[in-house]
Amino acid sequence: MFKKILGVVVCVSLFAVSGFLMAGQSKMPEPEGAVFWTYITKDNPYHKWHFFPGKECLYEGKSPHGAYLKVYVNDIAYKAASEDKPMPYGAIIVKENYGKDKKTLMAITPMYKVEGFNPEAGDWFWAKYGPSGKVMAAGKVKGCIKCHSVQKDKDWRFLHFEKK
Ligand code: HEC
Repeated sequence: MFKKILGVVVCVSLFAVSGFLMAGQSKMPEPEGAVFWTYITKDNPYHKWHFFPGKECLYEGKSPHGAYLKVYVNDIAYKAASEDKPMPYGAIIVKENYGKDKKTLMAITPMYKVEGFNPEAGDWFWAKYGPSGKVMAAGKVKGCIKCHSVQKDKDWRFLHFEKK
């Protein structure tokens, strides 16, 4: 009898723990500077994601984002980018901006699409971090939105993967 109860207890708790872990993995972060930084560096580190399709590795960037860039995308963003579709909610693009020496990380500027966050500007959350995560700007950042607005018909993004 005791064994049976123990078995049930173990099963129920395993179920609860795995449910919790799975929920934890799919839970998306709040669109807030520090919370989002923790998510992309600790909970779901972006260095393990894909590069933006067609931009695999460091490439020479256009102004104003730094001489050299690396652009990482999470699974949701990768799928949409590969099909060149507008990105669904939950999509994250993390861009690392390097100096002319190709080595010095100057800033990290991500975009994260959040339902209802800012419908006038594509529902993107924008942020700028220093190399060690200092929040320099986050939210509905006017500078980012203004410049990216020239691409508003293209999901507010400059990078688009062209299938060959
Ligand atoms: C003056 C114009 C300008 C401003 C301001 C600007 N961007 Fe960009 N952004 C660009 C251009 C141009 C690209 C394409 C870069 C390339 O691949 O060479 C780009 C690319 C990106 C990308 C890669 C996805 C895409 O759109 O192609 C992200 C992410 C991004 N910018 C985030 C930001 C954030 C966050 C800010 C504000 C902190 C910001 N940008 C401010 C012009 C701008």
